[in-house]
Amino acid sequence: MATEGLSVKVIGHRGIAAMAPENTLAGFRAAARLGVPWVELDVQLTADGQPVVFHDDDLQRTTNGQGHLVTTPLSVLRELDAGSWFKQSFQGEKIPLLTEALTVIAGLGLGLNLEIKADAGRAVRTAGLALERALEYWPGHLPPPLISSFSPEALSEAARLAPHWPRGLLIAGQWRGAVARARRLGCLSLHVHHGLLSQARIAEARAAGLLVLAYTVNSRVLATRLWGWGVQAIFSDRAHLWCGALEPC
Ligand code: G3P
Ligand code: MG
Repeated sequence: MATEGLSVKVIGHRGIAAMAPENTLAGFRAAARLGVPWVELDVQLTADGQPVVFHDDDLQRTTNGQGHLVTTPLSVLRELDAGSWFKQSFQGEKIPLLTEALTVIAGLGLGLNLEIKADAGRAVRTAGLALERALEYWPGHLPPPLISSFSPEALSEAARLAPHWPRGLLIAGQWRGAVARARRLGCLSLHVHHGLLSQARIAEARAAGLLVLAYTVNSRVLATRLWGWGVQAIFSDRAHLWCGALEPC
């Protein structure tokens, strides 16, 4: 499994969510401008099966639309403003197609963690379509994206379609069994809510050959503690806080 690029210590969360509207092209560009080496984004399918970059189930919080993303067709989503809610100067920012995001992020020279978001019934299809696009659009000469998901089904599909790309299992509420599950899925890493982490748990994962990545870490004190415990990287809305101070950041 390809592991190059995972010397990274700081990953911009949803682009760099404290500085620009999350999961937008403007956000990825802002991350690069601020010296952030990697970004994370969330992928879901529209009602007509197009992979787009979006976090929530609902449109309300981060666009001027309403309703569910997965029941809305791309043509409607593309008319929405995904920037003004954050700051007026981002007015007109669109929900990106995954293919647009891949092109921009690769062009900026950033590393990528592509998170597949889907409920159990849609996980395999979402992973399949997202991986199809990523395999086509991500340049072969760059380190491959790290594919992550809370869904084991999505990760199994990623392993089938891109066995040479690294995978990370996301967990939020339950540590028990996570290390074994990640190993079974052939994962490189476990991506864990920071509140679930302890030094002993990180040691357990590392002893099993897994890297541990922690989300979402926005304070210096917490980041320093987690790195001290052996966390490989943090996801941060304020990833730029560390860039320049660490090598590599
Ligand atoms: O991938 C880390 C983090 O993004 C997982 O949580 O809800 O922000 O996608 P969420
Ligand atoms: Mg995410």
